[in-house]
Amino acid sequence: MAVDKASQPTLIQPLTPADLDAVVEIERLSFRTPWLRQAFEEEMARPWARVEVLHDTVTGRCVAFADYWLVADELHILNIATHPEARRQGHGARLLRHILKLARQASYKTVELEVRRSNLAAQALYRRFEFQQVGMRARYYEDNDEDAIVMTLRLRD
Ligand SMILES: CC(C)(COP(=O)(O)OP(=O)(O)OC[C@H]1O[C@@H](n2cnc3c(N)ncnc32)[C@H](O)[C@@H]1OP(=O)(O)O)[C@@H](O)C(=O)NCCC(=O)NCCS
Repeated sequence: MAVDKASQPTLIQPLTPADLDAVVEIERLSFRTPWLRQAFEEEMARPWARVEVLHDTVTGRCVAFADYWLVADELHILNIATHPEARRQGHGARLLRHILKLARQASYKTVELEVRRSNLAAQALYRRFEFQQVGMRARYYEDNDEDAIVMTLRLRD
């Protein structure tokens, strides 16, 4: 059955301890070298870090999250993931739209991120929001020596 993305009721809010288990599980199911619970707890304690979670308000489930840093005039996205059972329903795009709105409102200059060369799904998502490849970090990911593509969205000069 096709999912009507536009009408899905969702809520984005800062990560609280109540959603930690769900976030750790999404992370575990999404990355080959997943962050452990402690890494998210450390993120929650860093003044410059934000972790936001997206809830499906019909089921009440936390189905996606994003983690980003606010550093000087740049917003750096460290992590964005959707539970495998909830992908292609627009949640990644909702989180990204939310982050970009915040970045524009707070007058950040750029939004930057690194993405694995093989991660075409994420690259497609970022390109939809007009991120452009601006560089490459050779063998950035230590687990398999994979290159990182550096992508940037310039919000102002
Ligand atoms: C990348 C990821 C976050 C996308 O989340 P999502 O909730 O499925 O994304 P959306 O449904 O909002 O997709 C928005 C658009 O992104 C693109 N996209 C998303 N997944 C895609 C895929 N598998 N293949 C091609 N394009 C894709 C499409 O343009 C899509 O729009 P469409 O569905 O109308 O075609 C998700 O695949 C994921 O969690 N991957 C594992 C973790 C990861 O790699 N994170 C990125 C780290 S840099």
